[in-house]
Amino acid sequence: MSTLLNQLAETRAFIASKVKTDASIGIILGSGLGNLANVIKTDIAIPYEEIPHFPVSTVQGHSGKLILGELSGKKVWVMSGRFHFYEGYTPQQVTYPIRVLHALGVKTLLLSNAAGGVNTSFKVGDLMVINDHISMFTVNPLIGKNEDSIGTRFPDMSQPYCKDLIKLVQDIAEANHIDLREGIYAGVTGPTFETRAEYRMIHLLGGDAVGMSTVQENIVAVHCGMKVFAASVITDLGIREEENIITHEEVLQAAKDAEPKLTLLFSELIKAL
Ligand code: HPA
Repeated sequence: MSTLLNQLAETRAFIASKVKTDASIGIILGSGLGNLANVIKTDIAIPYEEIPHFPVSTVQGHSGKLILGELSGKKVWVMSGRFHFYEGYTPQQVTYPIRVLHALGVKTLLLSNAAGGVNTSFKVGDLMVINDHISMFTVNPLIGKNEDSIGTRFPDMSQPYCKDLIKLVQDIAEANHIDLREGIYAGVTGPTFETRAEYRMIHLLGGDAVGMSTVQENIVAVHCGMKVFAASVITDLGIREEENIITHEEVLQAAKDAEPKLTLLFSELIKAL
């Protein structure tokens, strides 16, 4: 067996020794969006540092636990805190937890993130459903030997975010009077926020929002056949009149403020699955 398959088997066996692993939904909570974890009836929360082959999260605002619990009457795996390329992990380390979720039987993956708005009609606090992404400002996590037993060498990326899930969430948002944006997420490495020229370039290329996560996770999830839904909280505006600067604190606060809307959408989506 390859090293990757061996590692996945060890990680899976460790988790299976702790809890029954029959959840088919996985959720990854982004910066400042960890509160959904408090709504979940938790069966078990495993700190990342205890899980064999898992990287360990270092970013402020990320608690770093793999949780199995119940949300809207369904069993879900929740990653409270994710790994970013800018922390120094390889793209393969960043996406290892996605492979683990797949090995645990997850078929549907819900992602959330904080992102900068580059669509000029966006406001801070808006929620944006991601309908497509631009991955080319970051490193593709499938570079390297392909594991054919997991997925094909050249995955199709014509529907990286499941249209049916997007439609479901749009209906839920409408029923709950939540104003929902939709658009393209451009993935960047960070850790710098973009320069004014870079925000304008991303806008010109068709991006609506920009962020430092999600894209690599999405690619690995699509590679192994999962259905993905992702939403961004717009925490700052890249294209703006004022001379103000963007800080991590402001991003976390804006995410926290918008979080109840996101929690509602995720909870209702899970109910509908
Ligand atoms: N750029 C990149 N990543 C981000 C931003 C941004 O403006 N806001 C939150 N994450």
